[in-house]
Amino acid sequence: MKRVGILTAGGDSPALNATIRGFGKSAIGEYGMELIGFRDGITGLVENRYSHLDGKALSGILTVGGTILGTSRDKVHKFPTPDGPVDMVPTVVKNYEEASLDALIMLGGGGTARNALRLVDAGLNVIHLPKTIDNDIAHTDTTFGFATALEIATEAIDRLHSTAHSHHRIILCEIMGHRAGWLTLGAGIAGGADIILLPEIPYTVASVAETIRERTRRGSTFSVVAVAEGARDVSDTADYDAAQMLVRNAKTPEAQRAARAHLSNVEHSQREHTFTLAKELEAATGLEARVTILGYVQRGGTPSAADRLLATRLGTAAADLVAAGESGYMVAARGEGTEPVRLKEVAGKVKLVPHDHDWLAAARKVGTGLGD
Ligand code: F6P
Repeated sequence: MKRVGILTAGGDSPALNATIRGFGKSAIGEYGMELIGFRDGITGLVENRYSHLDGKALSGILTVGGTILGTSRDKVHKFPTPDGPVDMVPTVVKNYEEASLDALIMLGGGGTARNALRLVDAGLNVIHLPKTIDNDIAHTDTTFGFATALEIATEAIDRLHSTAHSHHRIILCEIMGHRAGWLTLGAGIAGGADIILLPEIPYTVASVAETIRERTRRGSTFSVVAVAEGARDVSDTADYDAAQMLVRNAKTPEAQRAARAHLSNVEHSQREHTFTLAKELEAATGLEARVTILGYVQRGGTPSAADRLLATRLGTAAADLVAAGESGYMVAARGEGTEPVRLKEVAGKVKLVPHDHDWLAAARKVGTGLGD
C-alpha cells in the first residue's frame, strides 16, 4: 500500500479543497493508498505536523472555500527561525522518510513549484498541482482558483457599472495580480470595463484620461477602469524595473541588503497607485473618481463549477501518476485533458499576458482602452 502526503502552500484560493478531495478520493478509493495531510504548507512539513485523511475527512469539502489543511508562504530552503532563515530541505527529507512516504503532493503556485523542485532535487517523489487566482503558471492552460476569481471580479465590475453610471463617476476597480494581468484582463473584458490596466502594459495617465474624455464627448459620463494590483504608469514601471535590476546585479551581501531596501522603498511608494491614479484622473477629466479594492474577496468562498471540474481532473490525474510511480511533474491542464510537465520546465517561470495575445486584441477591437 502506498503512503502519500499532501499539502497546500502559498496564498489560498478557491478549489484547494476540491483538489485535495479529487486526489484523495481517487488515491484511497481507486488505488488503495493511505493519505496524510501536512498542516499549513511547508511549515507543517518542516515541523512534522500532519494528520490522517480518510474518506470521512474528504467528504463534504468539494464546495468549501479555503483549505482544510491550512497554508503558509514559507520557503523550504529559507525557513524562518529565530536565528534567521535556515535551509530545511534535510529536515523535510528526514520527516518524509520517517513517515514512510512514497510521494508528496504539493498544491500551490509558482513559489510552491520552486519548493517542489528543491525537494525533487533532494530525492523526494513530488507531484505539483497548479493553483493560483493569478493564472500565471507556465505550461498549463489554466490554474485552479482562476475561474472562480474571474466570476467574482466580473460580478464586481458589473455592479460597479450601475453606481458609476448613476453618479457620473469614474470607478477604478483594483483586481489582484501583482505580476500577471490575466484576472484583470479576463474580468475587464467579461465585465465590459471601459479601460483595463495591466502590469504587462505600462500606462500613461494622459492616455487613460483621453479615453475617458472621448467617452464623455460621445455622451457617456461615467467610466469603469479595471486596474491590476501590479499595474504601473510608465515612469513607475521604469523605477520598479531599475530597482529589480539592482537586486539582480548586487554581488555582495551588503549590496544585496541595500538593493532590497531600495526595492522595498520603491514598492512602498507605489503601493497606493490606484488611489494616485484616481486623483490624477479627476484632475485631468473633471469627473469625480472612486476606488474599489476587491482584495481577498477574490480568494474566498465556494469554487465555481469550472474550478471544481478542473480540480477533480487535476487531482485524479495526480493520483494516476503516483500509482504509476511517476515523480517530478506538475500536472498541467491541456485542452480537455491533463498532461504531466517536468517541474524543472515550470519552476522559476511566470506566464505573463503576451502583447500579441488574443484577449488583448479582442479588448482593443471592442474599443477598450489599455492605457498605452
Ligand atoms: O498570488 C496570488 C495573490 O492573490 C496575488 O494576486 C496577490 O498579490 C497576493 O496573492 C497577495 O498575497 P498575500 O496572501 O501574501 O497577501
